[in-house]
Amino acid sequence: MELNTGSGNAEAASEVKRPRVRDMRRYIPELGLFEYWHPAIEAKRVGWKKPVPLTILEQPLALFRDGEGNVAAVTDICPHRGASLSKGACHFKGTITCPYHAWTFDALGECLAVLGEGPTSVIPGRKDARIRTFPTKTIHGMVFIWMGTGVPAPIEEDVPIEFFLPDFTIRYETVIWNVNWRPSVENILDAHPFYVHRNSVEFMFTSRDAFVGLSHLGPRRPKAEVHNGRAVGFNWHNPGDPGFKRDPAEPEKSYSQSYPGLGGQKWPPTEHRLLWHSIVSRFQRSVPPLLESREWSCAFHLPGYARFDYGSFVYSRATVPIDKKTCRIIYFFATRSKSKAGKLYHFLRFHLWKNWSMHFNFSGQDEVVIVPQNYDAPEHLSPTDIIPVSVRRLILSHARDLQGKAQEAVPDEFRVAPAEAVH
Ligand code: FES
Ligand SMILES: [Fe+2]
Repeated sequence: MELNTGSGNAEAASEVKRPRVRDMRRYIPELGLFEYWHPAIEAKRVGWKKPVPLTILEQPLALFRDGEGNVAAVTDICPHRGASLSKGACHFKGTITCPYHAWTFDALGECLAVLGEGPTSVIPGRKDARIRTFPTKTIHGMVFIWMGTGVPAPIEEDVPIEFFLPDFTIRYETVIWNVNWRPSVENILDAHPFYVHRNSVEFMFTSRDAFVGLSHLGPRRPKAEVHNGRAVGFNWHNPGDPGFKRDPAEPEKSYSQSYPGLGGQKWPPTEHRLLWHSIVSRFQRSVPPLLESREWSCAFHLPGYARFDYGSFVYSRATVPIDKKTCRIIYFFATRSKSKAGKLYHFLRFHLWKNWSMHFNFSGQDEVVIVPQNYDAPEHLSPTDIIPVSVRRLILSHARDLQGKAQEAVPDEFRVAPAEAVH
């Protein structure tokens, strides 16, 4: 019988040598970042008659239409005796009525009437009868909500640039992940894609450059760059990189590689994916990026966007915390076309293919690994973890929630300048 003795003292020794960088996590707010415009819901989901409940950052909200027809957001807690306003109704244009004693508020938070007491009620107009309101802005059919207590920042700083550019169409998909926001935003471009996504259809139909990029990092080390203190991007393979080849002189460039620790066995055991891709890529043409903005072409943008510009579309995965254990994941699929035929093509492409292949097949593979991840367990980081570490550094250095007094608590070594390369 063999006895597994575990790692014993070796574990204790590595404890001593463990880089301090792992401790960065404790300074990142567990619930999320408040002082931002967060994507919330498609405006078409909010009607005129019934309020809609939505929770962001543990703040329960009630959404309804204001007098102009814009989506308004107020606290979902009635100031009278705490009933849920979102269970109420919108009897009068631009108002919301509590389902319990029928206090009725407008989108500015003012109590206008108490239907349960009649027109002589002394409550309307009283300061303590007001409800908290949250600034909202609807762009391209998506409602963004300012969740902060400070003065709202310019919305262009927080909302992807394509929302402000002509000719763009943006389509959405929303799913709920049972995971904290930090593992979700750190789930980008490290050493996981080659393994986690190896059997995704996206991986097999992607462009040659992206196929190389999504494959094992090998000797490549990504270089991280911070843009405007709001985003971090990674330059992780040379545009002229010929990709994989079967050249014994450069074994590190082969797709299927031998692992000395496994007695020379290869992974992947076969090169069928490479063979398949060499056929598929013959029919693909390379397309330039859709966006010129380096800040918005980056891999991570505050407060919680993973971003990739694939040339024919721009992918965004917004992680919006609901509470400490749940996130709303909102995907933006942005395309640009002027012609009706182009618009129809992108409509069909999204609904018949990309929505499933990108947002369910590909990202579903991320969900499977990060939901059960024990984020607070001790980490033993590898050099390719520069990517999640760069995301942490960006948050610790530049997130609005961590400015001023809060910034003093963050050790200097965990910070980067607004445009400093972090690796
Ligand atoms: S609890 Fe809302 S009106 Fe009484
Ligand atoms: Fe992934």
